[in-house]
Amino acid sequence: MSVQKDLLGKTDSGQNVSVFTLTNRNGMQVQLIEYGAGIIRILVPDKAGMLRDVTVGFDDMDGLQHRSDYQGAIAGPYANRISGGSFVIDGNEYPLVKNEDGIKTLHSGGEYTHTVWQGKEIGENAVCFSYTRADGLNGYPGSIRAEITYTLTEDNALRLHYSCVSDRKTYINPTNHTYFNLNGFGSGDILSQELTIFASTFTPVDKLSIPTGELRPVEGSPFDFRSAKPIGRDIEHSCEQLKNTGGFDHNFCLDGWDGSLRTAAVAKSPESGITLTVSTTLPGIQFYAGNFLSGIPGKDGIPMNKRCGFCLETQYYPDTPHQSSFPSCLFAAGETAESETVFAFRAD
Ligand code: BGC
Repeated sequence: MSVQKDLLGKTDSGQNVSVFTLTNRNGMQVQLIEYGAGIIRILVPDKAGMLRDVTVGFDDMDGLQHRSDYQGAIAGPYANRISGGSFVIDGNEYPLVKNEDGIKTLHSGGEYTHTVWQGKEIGENAVCFSYTRADGLNGYPGSIRAEITYTLTEDNALRLHYSCVSDRKTYINPTNHTYFNLNGFGSGDILSQELTIFASTFTPVDKLSIPTGELRPVEGSPFDFRSAKPIGRDIEHSCEQLKNTGGFDHNFCLDGWDGSLRTAAVAKSPESGITLTVSTTLPGIQFYAGNFLSGIPGKDGIPMNKRCGFCLETQYYPDTPHQSSFPSCLFAAGETAESETVFAFRAD
């Protein structure tokens, strides 16, 4: 196992951005960067033992800063959407940045994604990224100290440990927004890759992609991923939910959530033989099928076309501040918001 630190480049404002390369005994390699505390490469062996980069995104500062759709990055402090671009805590209303259509907030306006975090090697197989935000930035309350530690294990798993503490009561809900393609970056779309999600219900959304508050059974609908099925099988179904979002882009409510680390989803490519198992301590997972990707050039200049990658973003449900029946992610001052997500790989 080894970790190597190099300079990736500089931001437009002249800040240095380091890249950390973790390599394990099987040759699995993960590259992590200080910009967005993100993942820019995961090389895993396929069934023939050949290494494939299963992440879709950028590895240059220009793409990361100017063309990003959150590829590989941490989204936060509150991932996904907040309706109306504001919320209330203890009777005080907090108007937030409305970065989506001028009427709602998506991924906290990109705050965590477009921040240079401070990266530090921990031993020979982990890197911890830290960042303390200013209270009130983008209207969002709380000076939150966030630490995200990525650990690569010898059994080809990447563990993400999140630990956040605020000086004021606030909502805390960060996620990692990696786009995966289990045949490798630049290999086409992900429609034949098979997905299982351990969720009997999901949160339907309105035309603005805001949850209605309902927890709807997946049974008998295109949202039933309880047994493995190709992502493309039902994605063009004419139901209202898939029309609202242009393909899968929904939060699934994980069965049996109790805060312990449980398997949330399994994705497999029959072609490469690579399987990704996602486990998490969190109650939800956003399955986003890359519907809005539109040909923007990524690594090696290869265009990222519609559905060339999928995201499995572990999270509290979107718009939780406006839905009292959803599990709460409102944390008291000084309370640690802690969670763990694991991306484990194998090939057969
Ligand atoms: C959202 C999508 C959005 C994507 C990139 C996902 O978490 O659910 O609607 O397009 O992030 O911003």
